[in-house]
Amino acid sequence: MKLKIFDTKELASEYAADLIIDKVKNNKNTVLGLATGSTPIQTYKSIIEKSKLYDISFAKVKTFNLDEYHVIDKYNEQSYHYFMKENLFSKIDIKLENTYFPSLDQNYDELIESKGGIDIQILGIGLNGHIGFNEPGSSLDSKTRKEKLDQSTITANSRFFNSENEVPKFAITMGIDTILKSKKIVLLAFGKAKYKVVHKLLNTTKFDSNFPASALVLHPDVEIICDKESYEK
Ligand code: F6R
Repeated sequence: MKLKIFDTKELASEYAADLIIDKVKNNKNTVLGLATGSTPIQTYKSIIEKSKLYDISFAKVKTFNLDEYHVIDKYNEQSYHYFMKENLFSKIDIKLENTYFPSLDQNYDELIESKGGIDIQILGIGLNGHIGFNEPGSSLDSKTRKEKLDQSTITANSRFFNSENEVPKFAITMGIDTILKSKKIVLLAFGKAKYKVVHKLLNTTKFDSNFPASALVLHPDVEIICDKESYEK
């Protein structure tokens, strides 16, 4: 795992956006794996700015989101469909029919493969070490599936809802195996709250199902991108 530390999350996000923009510039048919949550928002802003500045078209790009709540209407403001439209898709020239979200009525892993596999997968990390919604206990060979959210995830995500009761208890998530099949993985971690989990990840040497992000040590091309707050005490 390669580690990159930036003074601010803005600079870190700009670096992550450059990785994506360069990829799309060199291959119009790039397949991206995308995350939601607070962490990638600035990266998406930077992608929007740079796509305008350098006139980069996303018309042939395909995207696969990591996860979506189960069950939620895609027009609900808390859905990850809505999040992606608001924060990225409506602001670049991507075709919505080329944007995919996991659901139970399709074989997502096969669908990803049929489109050539994910070139770059963006990840955040949960305070409990989840990637996607692969909560502690997830196995290394897990594929896209329905997963019960950890109580700590429900509590963390309640900041986006009126109350904790409103947070869906389940999600459909890419599995750990699905994520590891990506050609390159970029994990973003910003802010003091992520300090502990970032250092736990950096000190990891082997897979431990109680700490799902540990699976990343098995992948040959992972970049961990931190701001100073998440890395320095
Ligand atoms: C979101 C996702 C989650 C988040 C994680 C961190 O699609 O897969 O794993 O990346 O919960 O969330 P934030 O960025 O809100 O701290």
